[in-house]
Amino acid sequence: MANENKLQDIIGHCKEYGFVFPSSEIYDGLGAVYDYGQYGVELKRNIRDYWWRSMTQMHDNIVGLDAAIFMHPTVWKASGHVDNFSDPMIDNKDSKKRYRVDHLIEGFVENLDQEKAEAIIAAMEALLAADDFAGLKKLIEENNIKCAVSGTCNWTDVRQFNLMFATEFGAVASDNPDDNKVYLRPETAQGIFVNFLNVQKTGRMKIPFGIAQTGKAFRNEIVARGFIFRMREFEQMEMQFFVRPGTQKQWYEYWKEARMKWHLSLGISDAKYKFHDHVKLAHYADAACDIEYDFPMGFKEVEGIHSRTDFDLKQHQEYSKKKMQYFDNDLDENGKPYGNYIPYVVETSIGLDRTVMMILSEAYELQDLSTEDKKDDRVVLKFPPFLAPIKLAVLPLTKKDGLPEIAEALMKECRPHFRCFTEEKDTIGKRYRRQDAIGTPFCVTIDHQTKEDQTVTIRHRNSMLQERVPMSDIKNIVLKNLEVL
Ligand code: GAP
Repeated sequence: MANENKLQDIIGHCKEYGFVFPSSEIYDGLGAVYDYGQYGVELKRNIRDYWWRSMTQMHDNIVGLDAAIFMHPTVWKASGHVDNFSDPMIDNKDSKKRYRVDHLIEGFVENLDQEKAEAIIAAMEALLAADDFAGLKKLIEENNIKCAVSGTCNWTDVRQFNLMFATEFGAVASDNPDDNKVYLRPETAQGIFVNFLNVQKTGRMKIPFGIAQTGKAFRNEIVARGFIFRMREFEQMEMQFFVRPGTQKQWYEYWKEARMKWHLSLGISDAKYKFHDHVKLAHYADAACDIEYDFPMGFKEVEGIHSRTDFDLKQHQEYSKKKMQYFDNDLDENGKPYGNYIPYVVETSIGLDRTVMMILSEAYELQDLSTEDKKDDRVVLKFPPFLAPIKLAVLPLTKKDGLPEIAEALMKECRPHFRCFTEEKDTIGKRYRRQDAIGTPFCVTIDHQTKEDQTVTIRHRNSMLQERVPMSDIKNIVLKNLEVL
């Protein structure tokens, strides 16, 4: 069930504790663009590293790639993004001003009472989802939504708006602005397709094999809200798996299962996930599904698995006039080599920011610890230890009596192995709560007894249980809890 309060709590928490900030906040932010703070960047990197390791290190036949964000403009012609990657917009005939349909409607409802505003937004979202452009125009006209410049309701039909960001390349002046136009990539996948033969030949890869890549993608999203769920600048983790034509269904099923296993390995229960099989397939796909997670706003896509046929490679072969074929010298059932063909592709594509949001939604807990005498609550982020930004906090009980020096010795031992943190200020209770709020799985307190017998108190984040252990065991206790694969 959707839980708007939890979402707002998470957004507030992320800002207060250095996970995610609105971009350029001192200038009132930039729509659907966010910056990751000191803990957010660690969490995001840990998720990215885990995905990378699961894909490349754990699969001998998958290698990595880091393609540039800028690509030759024809790439996006060939991929279909120039012609098809679009959302609806509308022009006012009197002012000639162009509006994105959602922006126009959202601006209009700002001055309405909440109930009416919600009804109009819900109608708009349903029409957008159904690509019902005539319905969107009718919604605008029925509500007498006017252009802010001309003040009239004299609108064109609703038309498509391309979601790619364009910029100019190089310093050569031209009368035709399209001459220097390049796009910020809207997906990382095309960098993999155009490098398919480079990697296959130099890596001596044999089909079936995969190429994995993580990196930024940019989309001028029409409905950009939901915190880091839908952003205009975001990061994808994609893998294209190249297979022999005719085997794609079997590989599609393989990757569906493998990716769901990966999700479950994050410590999230299977009740929080579901597959959404696409009924209406994109023109290039012969099977597709989403893995949906139960976000505070309800079940939504976190990852897509697509059997993309040979569409992309074929298109690049046609537009570049370069062969995108693979020679398969394995023998078919008649004992003949399969020979030359354009491979089919099964893609797994997961949003990194969306995964961060999933992990945050899963980990966030507001606990009421009040007793009869005292009101008390704590916010704890129950990250799996291997994803936590900080693994260990080393807390000397006081600033004196040599305790900070002992803490520093433990830090020195642990620092090369995992991210740890030390602080001396405030009561131990307050320091524990701060570590709970950033999801640190272990806190160690150094006290006067440590000086006597070299033992420390280790506190476990989830249970808040404390136990006395030799200080020399700490590094291994933490390391043991970081194991995943
Ligand atoms: N190459 C295929 C592709 O890009 P997609 O379904 O458009 O497919 C894949 O995107 C994943 O990228 C999504 O499942 C989602 O996790 C993430 N994603 C897409 N658009 C996003 C956005 N605007 N903000 C954050 N993540 C996004």
